[in-house]
Amino acid sequence: MSHPYRSVLYLPGSRMGVLEKARDLPADALIFDLEDAVAPDDKPRARLLVSEMVQHDYGMRKRLIRINGLDTPWGQEDLSAAIEAAPDGILLPKVNSAAELQAIAAQLRGNTRLWAMMETPLGILNAREIAASTPLLEGLVMGTNDLIKELFASHVPTRAPVLTALSTCLLAARAHGLVCVDGVYNAFKDEAGLKAECEQGLAMGFDGKTLIHPAQIAVTNAVFAPDEAALELARRYIKAFESSAGVAVVDGRIVENLHVENAVRLLTKADMIAKMNKGERS
Ligand code: COA
Ligand code: MG
Repeated sequence: MSHPYRSVLYLPGSRMGVLEKARDLPADALIFDLEDAVAPDDKPRARLLVSEMVQHDYGMRKRLIRINGLDTPWGQEDLSAAIEAAPDGILLPKVNSAAELQAIAAQLRGNTRLWAMMETPLGILNAREIAASTPLLEGLVMGTNDLIKELFASHVPTRAPVLTALSTCLLAARAHGLVCVDGVYNAFKDEAGLKAECEQGLAMGFDGKTLIHPAQIAVTNAVFAPDEAALELARRYIKAFESSAGVAVVDGRIVENLHVENAVRLLTKADMIAKMNKGERS
């Protein structure tokens, strides 16, 4: 991975003001949405608007277009328009099988990669084959609202009803070197609740979180960025390990190769974030 995906913001594709505003927001990636954030009557207009706006300058922010499912009246036209607009990624909703992604991958052009929403029971059960479907797949995005609905489950603060699904997708993503982004936190004015859910997602291993409102970006970026204490410890691990014969000790704890790999991963992530901040995504 050569780009941070701490904050991944949904932009309702029919709202010109929102698409323009996103150019000044410190999100790592943007999802220009044609699916659930757009009402049926607005779908054709949103398709045109997104196709044009996504080609504007969004600096270093990754630009993904979420199309409607290919089994809907809009999906096929969305896909053609999205391929033409050449975003960084095309995000397919409600993915159930590897075959769905393979069919789209064969049509992609240039540098556009594929992303999959993981939000149906069948999709979660097939996470392993979905993650392995095509080398053009770059990441998985958790759709926790749809999943909770499909499971007849409830939104609870611990997220116990969806932890199995979240972990299954993380396993599949890590097994195949994919980015894995957590679902949204619906109460966008509840910063403490969002922070707690970000911390849970970070602890599970997610790269970042999908967001619905700009007010959610700052706390998410902060939680998913390695803090200075963690970076300092990572540097000490590497230094101690380099001057040891296989196993070093730092602060009374052993440091093995696996800890060093983790330390290098953290430092690399911090570098990517610093580059984003320096370019101010401009
Ligand atoms: N991305 C970028 N900008 C956004 C935004 C978003 N997702 N949501 C709101 N904004 C902007 C507004 O345009 C407004 O800009 P302005 O101050 O320049 O006018 C500012 O942020 C404040 O917005 P606010 O008035 O608090 O919210 P709103 O009433 O305009 O919108 C929602 C609230 C929830 C309807 C809106 O955030 C939204 O549609 N979010 C995405 C929902 C979605 O994508 N769902 C599908 C995936 S789960
Ligand atoms: Mg969904």
